[in-house]
Amino acid sequence: MARSLEELQKQYRHAAAPGKGGPGGGPRPGGRGGVRMSGKPKNTRQTIARLLGYVGKYKWRLVVVFICMALTTVTSLLASYMLAPIINRLTLAVMPEATIDPSPLERLADRIICSFLGTSDADAWVYIVMALSILLAVYLIGVTSSYLQSKLMLSVSQNSISALRTDLFAKLQKLPVRYFDSNATGDVMSRFTNDIDNIDVMLNNALTSTVSGLITLVGTFIFMLSTNWILTLITVIFIPIFALGGGTIAKLSSKHYSGQQYALGAVNGYVEEMVTGQKVVKVFNHEDVCQEEFDTLNNDLRDKQFKAQFFGGIMGPIMGNTSQISYGVTIGVGGILMCTAGFTPGGLTVFAGYSKQFSMPINQISQQMSTIFAALAGAERVFAVMDADPETDRESATQVFPIHGDVRLENVTFGYDENKTVLHDISLYAHPGQKIAFVGSTGAGKTTITNLLNRFYDIQEGRITIDGVDIRDIPRSHLRENIAVVLQDTHLFSGTVMENIRYGRLDATDEEVIEAAKLASAHSFIMRLENGYDTVLTGDGANLSQGQRQLLNIARAAVSKAPILVLDEATSSVDTRTERHIEHGMDRLMKNRTTFVIAHRLSTVRNSNAIMVLEQGRIIERGDHDELLAMKGRYYQLYTGAIELA
Ligand SMILES: Nc1ncnc2c1ncn2[C@@H]1O[C@H](COP(=O)(O)OP(=O)(O)O)[C@@H](O)[C@H]1O
Ligand SMILES: [Mg+2]
Repeated sequence: MARSLEELQKQYRHAAAPGKGGPGGGPRPGGRGGVRMSGKPKNTRQTIARLLGYVGKYKWRLVVVFICMALTTVTSLLASYMLAPIINRLTLAVMPEATIDPSPLERLADRIICSFLGTSDADAWVYIVMALSILLAVYLIGVTSSYLQSKLMLSVSQNSISALRTDLFAKLQKLPVRYFDSNATGDVMSRFTNDIDNIDVMLNNALTSTVSGLITLVGTFIFMLSTNWILTLITVIFIPIFALGGGTIAKLSSKHYSGQQYALGAVNGYVEEMVTGQKVVKVFNHEDVCQEEFDTLNNDLRDKQFKAQFFGGIMGPIMGNTSQISYGVTIGVGGILMCTAGFTPGGLTVFAGYSKQFSMPINQISQQMSTIFAALAGAERVFAVMDADPETDRESATQVFPIHGDVRLENVTFGYDENKTVLHDISLYAHPGQKIAFVGSTGAGKTTITNLLNRFYDIQEGRITIDGVDIRDIPRSHLRENIAVVLQDTHLFSGTVMENIRYGRLDATDEEVIEAAKLASAHSFIMRLENGYDTVLTGDGANLSQGQRQLLNIARAAVSKAPILVLDEATSSVDTRTERHIEHGMDRLMKNRTTFVIAHRLSTVRNSNAIMVLEQGRIIERGDHDELLAMKGRYYQLYTGAIELA
C-alpha cells in the first residue's frame, strides 16, 4: 500500500529546527512541526538581516557597485535625453516659425552641446554630429561602469555564498546525532544544493536587477519631472494600479514558493532514500509502490511549482499591458500640450520613451521578486539549520587529563524520547584494562549504552564517570578522542584503504596503519586488492564484503590510541573461522584498554571480566562466564542454545 501525500511529506520533509519552540510560521495541517513559512514579515526581515550580514562584509565593494549602478542608470537616462535637443533643433530647421518652449533641462542640454561647438548657431548637421559624439562618450562611461558593477557584484556574491556554505557545513558538524535522527538526509542535503543555489541566483542577478531597477525608477522620475510635470502626474497616477496588482500577485507567489520548497524537500528526501535503499526495493519488489509514492510527491511538487511559477510569471505581462494604457494616455495629453502650451517635440519624444521605460524597472523588480522569494525561503531553511541546537559542552566541561579508562555508570536512565525509557537504572563499572561484555536480544539497549559513553546522547538520570569525572565535565572532543568506537553500522569514506584506516588517528604513520590492519586481520585481504593499501574505495566500500568492511573499521579503531574501546557487533559479519583467526589480534588490541564488547556470538565474550545480560533496558544478570553458567539463568539458556539470540 502506497502512503498518502500527507504521510509522505511528513516523513520525508521534517521540521527544520527541532526543539526550537515549534514552527515560526503557519504550521501545515497534519504536518508535525511543518515548514517555516517565508513571506511572514518578521521572519523575512530577520532572514534579510542575516543575509546582509554575509554581504555586508564587502561594504566598500558594494558602495562601488552602487555608484556604478547609479552611473550606468544616469548615463542611460542622459543618453536618451540627448534626443530632445536634437529633435528640437531639427524641428526649428524644418519649421523656423514653430513656437517651442524648451524645459530648463532641454535648455541645459542645448547649452552643453553649443559650448562644445563653441557657437550657438552652428549648422544643424554639425550640431547633430556633436550631440551624437557626446552621446557616444556617455554610453562608453555607462558600459564601463556596468562592466565594473557586474564584476564586483560577482565577487561579493561568490564570497558571501562561499562563507554561507562554510558556516552551514561547520554547523552540520556541530549538530547532535539526534538532529540527523529526525531530519531526512535528502532534506538536509537540499539545503546545501537547492537552497544555497537560490540564494546564489538572488545575489548574482536579482539583487542587482532590483537595485538598478529602483535607481532607474527614481532617475526616470526625476528626468520626467524636469521634462513635463503634467505628463509626470499622469504617469504617476497609474502607479497605485501597478503597486496594488504587483503586491497581490507577489503575496500569492510568495505563499506558493514556500509550498514549492517544502514539496521539493520531500521529493529530494524520498529519492535519496530510495537510491540508497535500492537493493531493498528490488529484493522486495517494491518498485511499483515506490513509483506510486514518488508520483504522489512529484505531482504535488508539479502543482506547487506550477502555482509558484504561474504567479511569478503573470506579473510581467499584467504590468506590461497596464503600462501600454498609461503610454497611450501620455502621448494623447502630450500632443494637446504641444499644440497649446509650447511643449517641445523633443520633450514629447524623450518623455514618451521615459514613460515607456518607467514601467520597465517595475516589471524588472516584480519579475525578480519570485527569485527573491525563493531565495529567502531557501535562506530561512539554511538559517533554520544554523539555529538548530548544537552539541555544546557546559561551562564546567574543562576537565582535560590523561584518561586511564575507569568507567562507571551510576543509576543511568535514558530514553531517546523523554517519555519512552530505553535504559532503566543501569549501574556498572569497568576498571582500566578490563573487558566488559553486553549480551541480550536485539533492541535490549546494548548499542544505546555505548551511545551514551561518547555522548551521542545525554542521559536523563544518573551519572557516567570516567576516572571519577562526570563525562559532562569533559570536553566532548577530549572524551571522543579517548574512546575508540567500532560502530555497529560500518562506514567507509571515498578514499584509499590507507586513508580510511588512518581516519582513526590522522598522524599515524604508514607502518602504524599496516600494523593496525594486521591486528584486525585485514592485512591479507588488503594485499589481495588491486592496489593494496592504495586501492580507492567508493560508495561506502561497495566493492568490499560486509565482513571486510568490518575488518577495516576495526583497523581504524586499532590505529587510535584511545584507552577505551567499544566494539559493537564488530565481527558480526565475519565468518567464525576468520573470527577465530583474529581473536589473537583482538586480544592484543584490547590489551591495556578498557573494552566494551557487544556480540551475539557468545564465544567472543567468554573471556570477559564481566558479562552483562540485558533485557528490555535492564541488566538482568551479571558475572563472568562461569558464574553466569552456574546461575543457570538467561545466559545459560542462551549459551546452551535453549534460546536463540535474535
Ligand atoms: N536513534 C534512536 N531513536 C529512538 N529510539 C532508538 C534509537 N536507537 C535505538 N532506539 C530504541 O532503543 C532501543 C534499544 O536499541 P539498541 O540500543 O540499538 O538495541 P541493541 O541492544 O540491539 O543494540 C530499541 O527499542 C530501539 O527502538
Ligand atoms: Mg545494537
